[in-house]
Amino acid sequence: MIKLAVLVSGRGTNLAAILEAAREGRLGVRPVLVLSDRPDARALSVAQTYGVRTAARDVAGPGGRRAFFAWAERELVESGAELIALAGFMRLLPAGMVQRFRWRILNIHPSLLPAFPGLDAPRQAVEHGVRISGCTVHFVDEGMDTGPIVLQAAVPVLPDDTPGTLAARIRKEEHRLYPEAIRLFAAGRLRIEGRRVRILPGQKDI
Ligand code: GRF
Repeated sequence: MIKLAVLVSGRGTNLAAILEAAREGRLGVRPVLVLSDRPDARALSVAQTYGVRTAARDVAGPGGRRAFFAWAERELVESGAELIALAGFMRLLPAGMVQRFRWRILNIHPSLLPAFPGLDAPRQAVEHGVRISGCTVHFVDEGMDTGPIVLQAAVPVLPDDTPGTLAARIRKEEHRLYPEAIRLFAAGRLRIEGRRVRILPGQKDI
């Protein structure tokens, strides 16, 4: 079992999907910490429901972003986390933190990257008029939603979609995709080769 920390800012539906799968023993991870930049994030109560330790600090508090990330890095190191999953964490990580946990940070983004990085991806997709969007799990590098892609799932954009209805359809796929990517990481089956991630065969596939 590898130790997992999850960073959140909001609702925590991806967090719930991950913690549920972990509890069922499907992921090969032990969640050790859920950390938030918003003390009022609903995700924190999700973590408590699953009995996972939480830590929260307001990024808008004293010392701002710098102090927040210095604190977050200490918490993550002390937790012994071997994998960090960003699940609706709404901030770009500082380069120092990315380097410290190089290729041990995953993120989920609600578009088929490299299309529509950044904020409000479902709105970007609807406004652009694409017929297909989806979600992407990727390793985090120093850029905004730019790191090597682990898994993607396609989701149709329907004629009457609003950003909200599209986001909800995408989120259903996220809840399947993110636990699967974490399971592959924990099983040591992800190998990064430049920009590409090779998925190594599992025991049952050989
Ligand atoms: C998800 O759509 C995820 O792709 C994005 O933020 C949203 C988080 O939702 N990064 P939730 O907090 O997991 O419900």
